[in-house]
Amino acid sequence: MNHALLPIPAVIDTIDRSVINNHIFTLRPEQSIELVPGQFVEISIPGVGSFPVSPCDLVREGLISSCIRRTGRVTEALYYLEEGDLIGMRGPFGNGFPLSMFTGQDALLIAGGLGMAPMRALLKALLDNGQTGRIILLYGSRQPETLLFRDELVSLAGHSRVDVRFSVDFAEILPGPCGDVLCRIGLVTELLADLDFNPRKTVSAVCGPPALYRCVLEELALMGLPPAKIFATLERRMRCGIGECCHCVAGGRYICKDGPVFSLEALRGMAEAI
Ligand SMILES: Cc1cc2nc3c(=O)[nH]c(=O)nc-3n(C[C@H](O)[C@H](O)[C@H](O)COP(=O)(O)OP(=O)(O)OC[C@H]3O[C@@H](n4cnc5c(N)ncnc54)[C@H](O)[C@@H]3O)c2cc1C
Ligand code: FES
Repeated sequence: MNHALLPIPAVIDTIDRSVINNHIFTLRPEQSIELVPGQFVEISIPGVGSFPVSPCDLVREGLISSCIRRTGRVTEALYYLEEGDLIGMRGPFGNGFPLSMFTGQDALLIAGGLGMAPMRALLKALLDNGQTGRIILLYGSRQPETLLFRDELVSLAGHSRVDVRFSVDFAEILPGPCGDVLCRIGLVTELLADLDFNPRKTVSAVCGPPALYRCVLEELALMGLPPAKIFATLERRMRCGIGECCHCVAGGRYICKDGPVFSLEALRGMAEAI
């Protein structure tokens, strides 16, 4: 049996339930697993099934945190578990974001909805290594109440290198307190309109639903970012995570193994991957 197919036990260390149906589970696998932001693990619940998830934080002291949305059968079963319960974990899988490409460049991070979870891990990695210039984060959510990590992002906006801007699709009034964070009602793509940045010195990462990719990736290229410096992370139904079952194939590539992070340059050659 391939060891990548054998889950190792992991204990649920803590559960942060502050955002309804988007709880943050911090897990301690029996053997530590190193993960680059954008890579993923497969979480299994005995007798129920498994699902892929990316971390929303850097791995610290063997702990892996993920913001997991209650979506269907397996994530629902996870929500019935408590701190101290055991689950299974396999990984790491996939390629992750190319962190070295951000060195000496500015970063333009664009997240929609739950895409803020893996984006937070990337943001933390860029802040930690201190090699990236200005970091701009544009984050859009449906409603003010579903903005994830809001207080943390608001406090980051006081950081001289970080420019955070929120958008919410629907709201009667803008959410407060937003501190130094500009917040608009509208789509996250609208935040690009008055953004002042140097596209030739910028690497961009986009995380969110396919609808976001369809409108933003080519727009970034039109703004002057080279397609090889625009990255998006794709989601597909996964099984093995190692390129053996063919469940995740899209545009002729294995999303689990060749991705899930692809540059726009690569995506242009992957018909109907988005
Ligand atoms: C690389 C990767 C990283 C991910 N990171 C996260 C994360 O950080 N947090 C998080 O909450 N979720 C994440 N997901 C999505 C997560 O894997 C699915 O929500 C999960 O599989 C749902 O399982 P379920 O059994 O609860 O739902 P199911 O009962 O299987 O499905 C419920 C609904 O969700 C749809 N669905 C299920 N899986 C996917 C998928 N992979 N892509 C699109 N639609 C799907 C189904 O078609 C159905 O409509 C990630 C997926 C991938 C591939
Ligand atoms: S999940 Fe099996 S080949 Fe990708």
